[in-house]
Amino acid sequence: MARYLVTGGCGFIGSHLIERLLAAGHEVRVLDDLSTGKRENLPAAVPVTVGDVADAGAVEAAMAGPDGEGVDGCFHLAAVASVDRSREAWLETHHANLSGTIAVFDAARRAARRADAGGGPVPVVYASSAAVYGDNPAMPLTEDAATRPLSAYGADKLGCELHARVADIVHGVPTTGFRFFNVYGPRQDPKSPYSGVISIFAGRIVRGEPITINGDGQQVRDFIFVKDLVRYLTAAMDNPRSGAPVFNVCTGRPTSVNRLAEVLAELSGRPLDRRQGPERPGDIRVSIGDPSRLVAAFGMSCETPLEVGLRETLAWL
Ligand code: NAD
Ligand code: UD1
Repeated sequence: MARYLVTGGCGFIGSHLIERLLAAGHEVRVLDDLSTGKRENLPAAVPVTVGDVADAGAVEAAMAGPDGEGVDGCFHLAAVASVDRSREAWLETHHANLSGTIAVFDAARRAARRADAGGGPVPVVYASSAAVYGDNPAMPLTEDAATRPLSAYGADKLGCELHARVADIVHGVPTTGFRFFNVYGPRQDPKSPYSGVISIFAGRIVRGEPITINGDGQQVRDFIFVKDLVRYLTAAMDNPRSGAPVFNVCTGRPTSVNRLAEVLAELSGRPLDRRQGPERPGDIRVSIGDPSRLVAAFGMSCETPLEVGLRETLAWL
């Protein structure tokens, strides 16, 4: 049994990670400002501190715990996950997305692990993003592809990876970063305009409302089911690596936004009322990842077929 801090644990991905950690018998506590996350995403027994991940004191206290017993590792997921929101609120999202990550690495270097768990700085597994690649046209994208972010969000996620190197090399904090491609599944908020496209479309189609396609709808994404993803997070924590590695989390399978809308309408048995809106400024045109490094390192792939994951998502709504 290990004890973990999960920042952003009340959010979509965090709540699935915590489900998995609890099922494996681990103890979990959470730091979350509840800006998009919901307390009810987690069992009542999980302790949640409501606070800002960019507040160094709050992170340090969350890592120490109420009795100063510390943690065996930190999963850092707290961030403003919306690319569009990072365009509107540049500096505000920067605080959460980059300063928040530095606050976590900084606390991890001070908070020694329990001696019976090996001591030393606390390992951190954190969320980066495919947004770091920006407008790189080399498809599918390997981790060695050039990073050319098109958004404040992508720039800050790249900054997280650079600071992860500092955490590793200068401060001895083991980190593993995951460049998630487009994650979907139950508990992704269907009502927020800042949510992922699958939850927005699914929610609207099921409610009989029109959907808006930004631009021509030919933009392509690599969608991954959340339950596939969280297995990598726990596996990375079980074997902390040196050298601040980063891994794509992706399927390698492309789906256009138009096709996605059609599949969701078919699966839900509802008519598709599709409107065209303006292209989103800074929207990435094509994003498809190469999962080879991920599969070689962890021995498993993101295998859930899109239709299976979409059915489970629709059933949750
Ligand atoms: P989410 O919005 O559901 O979860 C983020 C959580 O962080 C929420 O609970 C929110 O309340 C919390 N949070 C936000 N700002 C905070 C702050 N300043 N202090 C403390 N808590 C804060 O989004 P998600 O999809 O679960 O994203 C989790 C992580 O994965 C994020 O780092 C996101 O950037 C990253 N990511 C997500 C995707 C995706 O497709 N969903 C893809 C790539 C990377
Ligand atoms: C998403 C994630 C981001 C992650 C990135 C990794 C969210 C909110 N964003 O960004 O955290 O780092 O993947 O690849 O989870 N679209 C429409 N109509 C809508 C909503 C969206 O046409 O109503 C289009 C967008 O213009 C875009 C595509 O759908 O072309 C995907 O948009 P979105 O779900 O916001 O994801 P990303 O911007 O790719």
